[in-house]
Amino acid sequence: MSSVPSVTLNNSVEIPQLGFGVWQVPDDEATSAVQTAIESGYRSIDTAAIYRNEEGTGRAIAASGVPRHELFITTKLWNSEQGYDTTLAAFDESLRKLGLDYVDLYLIHWPTPGQDKYVDTWRAFEKLYADGRIRAIGVSNFHAHHLKRLFDETETVPVLNQIELHPYLAQGPLREFNAQNGIATEAWSPLAQGGDVLTDPAVVALGGKYGKTPAQVIIRWHLQLGNVVIPKSVTPTRIRENIDVFDFELSADDVAAITALDKGQRTGGDPDVFGA
Ligand SMILES: NC(=O)c1ccc[n+]([C@@H]2O[C@H](COP(=O)([O-])OP(=O)(O)OC[C@H]3O[C@@H](n4cnc5c(N)ncnc54)[C@H](OP(=O)(O)O)[C@@H]3O)[C@@H](O)[C@H]2O)c1
Repeated sequence: MSSVPSVTLNNSVEIPQLGFGVWQVPDDEATSAVQTAIESGYRSIDTAAIYRNEEGTGRAIAASGVPRHELFITTKLWNSEQGYDTTLAAFDESLRKLGLDYVDLYLIHWPTPGQDKYVDTWRAFEKLYADGRIRAIGVSNFHAHHLKRLFDETETVPVLNQIELHPYLAQGPLREFNAQNGIATEAWSPLAQGGDVLTDPAVVALGGKYGKTPAQVIIRWHLQLGNVVIPKSVTPTRIRENIDVFDFELSADDVAAITALDKGQRTGGDPDVFGA
């Protein structure tokens, strides 16, 4: 079974560098998908309140037989629950659905700057962290200027920023900003949702060169950039394929060639306007 390296977060907690995402997986299917992922060696699972599969994910965790401390569970606060008191209540509800008494990582899902609540929300995250109910707190979809506001107005630097990131949206400046501030970068839609990037001639050619699939080449690119990466699949062969990426290494030139495919192409919303 593959051995997944860890990234050490700015509060010394370690997160597996490769995890399993469950967006768009219905609650009942999430149980079998997460079970397959855990059996395949994944120890990090990324869900969210808005995915409506925290219960199915929790059932798989309970049935896995893997000790809780060996798993790394992430969930996220949805936009409608932002605000201090609403965050505290939403966190309780996520824990209840997951069937857990703590999560490893809790993220603000989107900044939704139009609501202007993410600073108060972050203060609630700080309280939950101080109370020992979360091992690490972070954000998702934050641009540098959203992060700067947290730096200026709160006490705690997020451990991680989960952002859309794949070869067609390489996010060089934001990855750099995160790194300069001790914030890990986690890539969502790392395979660009299974779209054209998997048939990009450059990626396909590298698959041939290394004897790996296009998805494996892209996941390897993420790992070598230092990203935490959370590909999703409900297909057992792909779940296993996506973690079978620790027996080869891309050359520096090949990493750079994939990064050069960047065309600033988002599959999801721009954080300055999404949900605002
Ligand atoms: N924070 C946020 O705002 C945010 C937004 C989006 C996603 N996320 C997180 O990031 C995770 C991953 O992103 P994502 O689900 O959007 O997309 P993704 O992981 O980039 O791609 C998933 C798609 O690729 C297909 N696929 C997976 N492995 C493959 C392989 N080896 N070969 C060919 N196709 C493959 C899957 O198909 P099958 O499932 O049919 O096999 C699925 O259609 C999510 O599940 C979620 O946890 C977070």
